[in-house]
Amino acid sequence: MGIRKIVEYPNEVLSRAGKPVEKFDEELRKLCEDMFETMYEAEGVGLAAPQIGVSLRLFVMDCEGIKLIAANPQIVEAKGEQTGAEGCLSVGKIPAILVRPSEVTLRAQDLEGNWFEKTATGLAARCFLHETDHCDGKLFIDHLPKLRREMVIKKFRKEKKGR
Ligand code: NI
Repeated sequence: MGIRKIVEYPNEVLSRAGKPVEKFDEELRKLCEDMFETMYEAEGVGLAAPQIGVSLRLFVMDCEGIKLIAANPQIVEAKGEQTGAEGCLSVGKIPAILVRPSEVTLRAQDLEGNWFEKTATGLAARCFLHETDHCDGKLFIDHLPKLRREMVIKKFRKEKKGR
């Protein structure tokens, strides 16, 4: 299928928790290929299945040298703190400052269904958290204080109109 259409806020699929990935088959492999293609085309560093309208707990990422596929992701450890800008392909990449843990360990399954753990810092750690949130039906703007969240949504609507 190739490049898919990215679903944008406030589409309800983005606020729904994805279903667990149960079949580690050819279809899943193809879906992940499409997700990588879609992510690269949009110049993103991570993309979760709900963002292309597929309600599954699955994401792909390629960020600071960490390229992986994560099915059924869980954050098993998070420590420290980092303050930095974050954005989302489903919210027009409008950036907002968000405090996140600085060192994060992800546990997930690969394409064969094998569980793995990976620890990251900095932007890649932020990506683990952001994409796992997507799988749980949460957007980064849900972490923002009300006023800042409204600001991002307002800017996004404006940016969308101008396309
Ligand atoms: Ni996102």
